[in-house]
Amino acid sequence: MPLDTQLKELSDRKRLAELGGGKERLEKQHAAGKLTARERIELLMDPGSFVELDAFVTHRCTDFEMQNQKFLGDGVVTGYGTVNGRTIFVFSQDFTVFGGSLSGAHASKICKVMDLAVKAGAPIVGLNDSGGARIQEGVESLGGYAEIFWRNTQASGVIPQISVILGPCAGGAVYSPAITDFIFMVESSSYLFVTGPDVIKTVTHEDVTKEALGGSETHSEKSGVTHFVRASEPECLKSVRELLSFLPANNLDSPPRSEIKDPLDRACSEVVKILPDSPNKPYDMLGILRDVFDDGQFFEVHAGYAKNIVVGFARLGGKTVGVVGNQPNHLAGCLDIDASLKGARFVRFCDSFNIPLITFVDVPGFLPGTQQEYGGIIKHGAKLLYAFAEATVPKLTVITRKAYGGAYDVMASKHIRADFNFAYPTAEIAVMGPEGAINILYRKEIAAAEKSGKLAEERTRLADLYRKTFANPYKAAELGYIDEVIVPEDTRRRLITSLRTLEGKRERGPSRKHGNIPL
Ligand code: HXC
Repeated sequence: MPLDTQLKELSDRKRLAELGGGKERLEKQHAAGKLTARERIELLMDPGSFVELDAFVTHRCTDFEMQNQKFLGDGVVTGYGTVNGRTIFVFSQDFTVFGGSLSGAHASKICKVMDLAVKAGAPIVGLNDSGGARIQEGVESLGGYAEIFWRNTQASGVIPQISVILGPCAGGAVYSPAITDFIFMVESSSYLFVTGPDVIKTVTHEDVTKEALGGSETHSEKSGVTHFVRASEPECLKSVRELLSFLPANNLDSPPRSEIKDPLDRACSEVVKILPDSPNKPYDMLGILRDVFDDGQFFEVHAGYAKNIVVGFARLGGKTVGVVGNQPNHLAGCLDIDASLKGARFVRFCDSFNIPLITFVDVPGFLPGTQQEYGGIIKHGAKLLYAFAEATVPKLTVITRKAYGGAYDVMASKHIRADFNFAYPTAEIAVMGPEGAINILYRKEIAAAEKSGKLAEERTRLADLYRKTFANPYKAAELGYIDEVIVPEDTRRRLITSLRTLEGKRERGPSRKHGNIPL
C-alpha cells in the first residue's frame, strides 16, 4: 500500500476517534451546557502540549450485540502533557460514548496512565463524566473500577491525584475520587452519590433531588466530600491549574519555588489593625493570612466546609507552604468534628508532599456538647492531633490569641514537635478561658459574692487576676514552649527566616509498616 494511503488511513482513524460518540451526541453535550472530553483537556493543559495515548482502543464486549457498537477510544481520552510547563497525566471521560460508562477497556486505559504517572513521578488529573459501570459488561466493569481504586491507593502520597467531577459520578465510582487528594465540582452540573434519588425513594421513601443529594453545594458545605466548587467548567479547570502550581510533582520532589515581588522583610501592618482589643471579639483570620503571605495570596481549600478552621496553600518567600488557621469569625474558632477532619486530611497531604506547615492558632477549645460527643469528637479530634504529631515537614506555629486546653496541644504545639513556636503579646495560653476557670477555682468566693450582691465586680476582679497570671504568652515562654514572643509586624520576616533555617530539616519517624490513625 502506498505511504500516502497509509497516512490517510491514520488521519481518518484519528478524526474518527476525535468524534467520540458522534456529532449528534457532541452537540447534545454542548446543549447540556457541558464541554466535551477533549475541550476540557485543551483548557486544562498548556496549549498544544497534550499527547494522546490509546486513541484506537475499543471495548471487547460481545453481549447485547455490543460488537456492532464500537467507538474508537471507548469513552475516555487519556494521555499526558504540561500544565505551567510541568508534566501531568490526564484522563477525561467522554459522555458521548455510552454515557462515559466504564468498560474493561476504558478502565485499562485509565490504569495505563495512572501507572505511567507513578513511574514518571507526575500528578494525575481525572476528569469524570460518567454513567458508572458499563451495564453491558457486568463484572468486567466492576473489576475495572477496583483496578482503579487499587491504583489510587498505591499512588496515594506518591503523586498528587486530583479528581474533577464534570457530570454524574454515581455508585461505587465515587470511591476513586474519594481516595484522591482533591475533588473539584462545578455548580449545577456535577453529581456524586452512592445511590441515586430513585433508589433512595424505594429504600427509605425519602424524596430528594439529585442536586440536594449529591450536588456541589451539598458536598462542599454539608458532607465535605468536595474541596472546591466553581461556577463553570473553564473556571474550574483554571483552578486545577492554579492548585497544581503549588504542588511538587511527587513525594521525592520539593514544592516549586516561584519568583515573587513581595519584599521578604515587609512588615505586616494589617495584622495589628485586624486583631481586636477585646479577647472575645471575632475577626477574620483570612485577613491575617493575606497580610503575611506572598502577594496577599491564599489559595483556600475546603472553603465552604467547617468554616471554623481555614486550610489552604500560600507562598512564603516564593516557596509553597500549607496553612492551617483557626477562624474566630465562625464558632469562635472552636475545633469540632468537621474542623478536625478537614484539618487532619490537609496536614497529611502537606506532610506526604514535603510542604511545610504554618499554623495560626486562635482556639478557645473543642466545641462542647452531646452532639459532638455522640458524633465521636474524641476519635475525630484525635485525627488532627495524630496528623500534626506525625508530620515531619518543617512546622511553624503562631499563636495570635487564644490557645486553650487540649486544642493548644493539638494545634502544632511545641510538644508535638513543631520546630518554631511564636506568640503575639496578645496570646492567652492556658487550660481554659478566664470565665470557666474562675467558676472552678473560686467557687466559694463567687457564691459569697452572689449572696452579698457583688457578683459582677467579684467576677471581673477574679477574671482579671486569672488573666494576669495565665492568659498571656509569658508562662509558656518561660518554659520554652514558645520560642519567641513577637510583634505582629514581624510575622512575615520571622516565618521566612525560620523556613530558610529549616530548609535542610530531616526527620524520620520510627520504622513501621504504618501507623494506626484513629479512623
Ligand atoms: C451503559 C450507559 C450507561 C451505563 C448511560 N449510558 N449510562 N450505557 N452503561 N452505565 C448510555 C445511555 O444508554 C445513552 O446511550 C447514553 O449513555 C446517555 O445516557 P442518557 O440516559 O441518555 O443521558 P442522561 O439523560 O443525561 O442521563 C445520564 C445518567 C443516566 C443519569 C447517567 O444515563 C443513568 O442513570 N445511567 C445509569 C447510571 C447507573 O445506574 N450506573 C450504574 C451505577 S452503579 P445512547 O446510545 O442513547 O446515547 C455503578 C457501580 C460501580 O456504577 C461500582 C464500582 C465498584
